[in-house]
Amino acid sequence: MYKALRQLLFSLDAEAVHHLSMRWLRSFGRSIFFSNLIKARYKAQDDPIEFAGLIFKNRVGLAAGFDKNAKYLHELDLLGFGHVEIGTVTPQPQPGNDRPRLFRLPKDKALINRMGFNNAGVHAAAGGLRHYRKYGKRQMIIGGNIGKNKTTPNEDAWRDYQACFKELHDLVDYFVVNVSSPNTPGLRELQDKDALKKILTTLQELNAGYQKKRPIFLKIAPDLTTAQLNDIVDLVLEIALDGMVVSNTTVSREGLKTEAGIVEKIGQGGLSGKPLMKQSTEVVEYINKQSNGKIPMIASGGIFTGKDAQEKLAVGASLVQVWTGFVYEGPGIAKRITKHLKKL
Ligand SMILES: Cc1cc2nc3c(=O)[nH]c(=O)nc-3n(C[C@H](O)[C@H](O)[C@H](O)COP(=O)(O)O)c2cc1C
Repeated sequence: MYKALRQLLFSLDAEAVHHLSMRWLRSFGRSIFFSNLIKARYKAQDDPIEFAGLIFKNRVGLAAGFDKNAKYLHELDLLGFGHVEIGTVTPQPQPGNDRPRLFRLPKDKALINRMGFNNAGVHAAAGGLRHYRKYGKRQMIIGGNIGKNKTTPNEDAWRDYQACFKELHDLVDYFVVNVSSPNTPGLRELQDKDALKKILTTLQELNAGYQKKRPIFLKIAPDLTTAQLNDIVDLVLEIALDGMVVSNTTVSREGLKTEAGIVEKIGQGGLSGKPLMKQSTEVVEYINKQSNGKIPMIASGGIFTGKDAQEKLAVGASLVQVWTGFVYEGPGIAKRITKHLKKL
């Protein structure tokens, strides 16, 4: 049924459809009857799993950037996700890049986005999270993916991460430090060891002062060199960071089936979906080997099916996240993947 609907949705602007679909789901979700119906239809099948000291109801989550402002958590809960990562949030609201900034590549089952951390600011996200904590069923684990404002210079970036961390600490179950979006100029430079160490250790020190500690993960790009990856692995082990999310979107355009002219016309942005699968799996595998399996990982990148998820788990990830797969496969994706994983 989703395939028929998808044809219609794909004829409309990608970003508009994203908001429209969530608003539809929200209207249905408001009725107890439909809410129970959706919940029963999309109930995930996997068993609970412990990761970084947290109990996830299953291994499939929704990656960052889908619910940036924590507005749709109740609705996403109905679709069977074990966790949702809200954000990326920045201290101040910011509009992001000009539209259009989200593009479909149906021949490749991919997306290109250059959203640029459009979000309503950490304060608004905190409001959404409070609402979910108060009225939601609270069955999902919620991650807070945090970033810096576009206008904040890199040397002050740690202050932005700190501000978001403080505001969300009571409201999320784990944090992800995002230094890997290709759409905020200079952000990926924060993946260099010294810059990263400053941000991560600042947050760890802050975390140590709270009675309830929140696991902190680092989300990296799939485009890093081996030397950069080695530096990151060393740092993560040295400071005993809780884990990593691997990976964000790629700036590569290699091997696409979509005509080169179309890809060129779309322009800059991060590529996600099927073409990212192999590249990001290789990074998970490399980190796992290089760290002797000592770094807990959440895999993100090109996961559409149970088999894709199984591949990520086989090379060292413990949990998986979907984003582009949700757009192409529809609302039953968490159920289908968890069903496959349960059978293993
Ligand atoms: C439109 C869009 C917006 C995104 N925004 C964010 C974001 O704000 N923060 C982030 O860490 N990742 C963001 N991502 C990256 C996803 O979280 C995910 O890591 C990436 O898309 C790879 O997974 P996929 O192939 O399943 O889509 C975004 C991806 C898309 C397609």
